[in-house]
Amino acid sequence: MSAHPGVRTSVDELIGELAARRYLADRPLATVLTVALRLGRPLLLEGEAGVGKTQLAKTLADVLGARLIRLQCYEGIDVSHALYDWNYAKQMLHIRTLEAAHAADRRATAELFSREFLVRRPLLEAIEHADAVAPVLLIDEVDRADDEFEAFLLELLSDFQVTIPELGTVQAGIPPSVILTSNRTRELHDALRRRCLYFWIAHPSLEQEVAIVRARIPGVAERLARQAGQFVASMRGLDLVKAPGVAETLDWVEAIEMFGVDDLETELTEWTLGALLKHREDVEQVTERGVAGLVEAARAAAGG
Ligand SMILES: Nc1ncnc2c1ncn2[C@@H]1O[C@H](COP(=O)(O)OP(=O)(O)OP(=O)(O)O)[C@@H](O)[C@H]1O
Ligand SMILES: [Mg+2]
Repeated sequence: MSAHPGVRTSVDELIGELAARRYLADRPLATVLTVALRLGRPLLLEGEAGVGKTQLAKTLADVLGARLIRLQCYEGIDVSHALYDWNYAKQMLHIRTLEAAHAADRRATAELFSREFLVRRPLLEAIEHADAVAPVLLIDEVDRADDEFEAFLLELLSDFQVTIPELGTVQAGIPPSVILTSNRTRELHDALRRRCLYFWIAHPSLEQEVAIVRARIPGVAERLARQAGQFVASMRGLDLVKAPGVAETLDWVEAIEMFGVDDLETELTEWTLGALLKHREDVEQVTERGVAGLVEAARAAAGG
């Protein structure tokens, strides 16, 4: 597969361009992304929920000036949802019209499987694009799709070509830049992993999370961002069903700010825990440990 001629970004430029769009990528992530773009290889991003996997693909499309084409995977997704389908209603109408005109001969019915009746789904859109800049194809939450679909993707990602029996083979001119994401609800096969470059997005460091909060919530008090970062980091150290991700930190800080508060306090933290924790067991565990103590520790660690 050919490299993407339009993609000449250096790692530093990419970090800068992403940051200008309020996405903070660390150097290892920006490096693997740059390499993937240069080589024209798909990038598989794994990581906990809310660590910025989907957002990276969206922001990247913006950086490249490319269209984002998103395929959201789910259990039972198949070719007719992902690649193409036929517009049955339109075909039926066409048949009726032909019948009424006594013109429903073999040639006329063959027309039913022409481009006029083809419904292009995201993968076909990404392969057949006529964009000046190749689109970014986001295959989101690929772990939710089942094995057969994964095998189909493998083939597609190998040569960016598909065969529609009625129409023939369609091949990408400039292949899309592909990002796959997975929450690891099941293991992906080695064959698919081998096609891709791989990166595990971990929860951010405290400094990075504070920087993300400040980038995403303009005007937030630095002290609050830091206290919140500390508090969330301590949550991640507990044995929770679901540790909060960056998305949850942002929701939580926004919730606190709504009350005009810029200094972490126990009562408001108790009331707004639902922005961070999404399981009854987790709320119970944190409450049993004592929110006051956790808040105090976060305030002390943040230096105020
Ligand atoms: N590095 C980052 N820089 C800026 N914002 C970030 C970053 N990481 C996460 N975010 C914020 O967190 C939000 C959630 O991220 P996103 O939806 O991309 O997570 P995800 O990893 O795809 O989660 P899920 O697995 O639940 O789909 C984003 O909309 C963004 O606001
Ligand atoms: Mg996502």
